Amino acid sequence: MADSLELASRMSGDSVRLILVDNDEEPTTYCCCNRWSRGRKCCCFLLLVFFLPVVAFGLAFIFIAYLPIENPIPVPEWAHGPYKTTEMLVHVGGMYKESGDQDAWTFYPDHNGTFPALAFSHGDGGGGFLLHWAFSGILRMVASHGFVVLAHKSCFWPWDCGTLSHDGGPNYQWRDQARTLVWAASPPSDSDNDSPESRVLSRINRELPMGVFGQSTGGRTSIQAAAAASEGPSGLDYTYINGSCIAAAVALHPDPCIGPHKDWRHGTCDRAPAITKTPLAVFTSELDTTEPAGSAKMNYDAASSTNKIFASMAGVSHIKGTGPIWALYTAAWFHIYLNGESQGDYYFDLIYGNSTRSICSENKNEMQMDEPIEDMCYFEDFVKLDNYC
Ligand SMILES: *[C@@H]1O[C@H](CO)[C@@H](O)[C@H](O)[C@H]1NC(C)=O
Ligand SMILES: *[C@@H]1O[C@H](CO)[C@@H](O)[C@H](O)[C@H]1NC(C)=O
Ligand SMILES: *[C@@H]1O[C@H](CO)[C@@H](O)[C@H](O)[C@H]1NC(C)=O
Repeated sequence: MADSLELASRMSGDSVRLILVDNDEEPTTYCCCNRWSRGRKCCCFLLLVFFLPVVAFGLAFIFIAYLPIENPIPVPEWAHGPYKTTEMLVHVGGMYKESGDQDAWTFYPDHNGTFPALAFSHGDGGGGFLLHWAFSGILRMVASHGFVVLAHKSCFWPWDCGTLSHDGGPNYQWRDQARTLVWAASPPSDSDNDSPESRVLSRINRELPMGVFGQSTGGRTSIQAAAAASEGPSGLDYTYINGSCIAAAVALHPDPCIGPHKDWRHGTCDRAPAITKTPLAVFTSELDTTEPAGSAKMNYDAASSTNKIFASMAGVSHIKGTGPIWALYTAAWFHIYLNGESQGDYYFDLIYGNSTRSICSENKNEMQMDEPIEDMCYFEDFVKLDNYC
């Protein structure tokens, strides 16, 4: 092809333009940036040399950080739910950041029935294209127990949604979590009943209340959403949940927001004290060194809701603790407070019962898997199904 191209160079001041001329086509101009001064080129080169490794390191770090979720601790067969699941990416829209990701991954039973909706919120760096990879294990498992799980992809980076932890940022990630439930509260459109959105919406039981859960920053956002639900229409944050119906929350390894650790001030997201009635479960692990020691328990203590539990696994880390074993107990919590299961029912007994698998039982010896659940279960009250919505 070389002979069909005519290479011309033209000098103009200190710049050189190379013009590739194809016999049949318009000439294409390539600028070689030769107009740039030597200092500027040097500066550009140095930036690239330092910036690229930082970006590469950041991405590698996130992949490695979330690896244990993909390889979670072994989960016993009995922890799986009765349903096979389907998953679908849907367009939700209306997220906090207009230019950000507007989609959510959804996981739901492969069954013609309808099920309560749950909104999941991810940890820092676990959104966007990493969300499915990092969290599909636990989300699929929660859905297999009979829920439609919606996981917003937005707020990939914490500062995307004002969550930067050390500057007391406002943390608006919870608004996107709530947004998916407001979306879930609307019936599917009749005109487009084969779209992914309609298929997911048609699986949601809108007669039943909804739940929020999440990991790390997402645990904190679940606390924020539960606080807004507790405050109800008179609360300052009601606008963001108006239309949804949040009646239970599970915080997995939540950020402390405000704790004893001097580097962990999170400003206005310290919302656990405002959880006065929404049932709250806090699940964490003893070896969670990402969050300040005791901070998950502080969130639990601060909530004055009468229906709350706290449970901690021994020996696993912040990320690995979010493996699917908590999915069973997360699902059980939602079955009690969204489906109204009561004493004698399977899921109720998994939390409050006396069986060898019950999280609050003294003889929970079947939970002595590789990583036993610590004997730290606080139980305050039997169920009162409040009429939230
Ligand atoms: C679900 O409904 C469709 C049509 O309404 C039917 O063809 C299908 O067999 C049903 N599936 C189950 C599992 O009931
Ligand atoms: C909630 O939304 C409805 C419908 O948009 C509106 O009529 C109502 O005023 C809102 N409630 C509050 C407290 O903002
Ligand atoms: C658990 O067992 C004790 C006695 O073994 C009984 O008094 C209590 O009611 C049981 N609790 C539940 C929730 O079944």
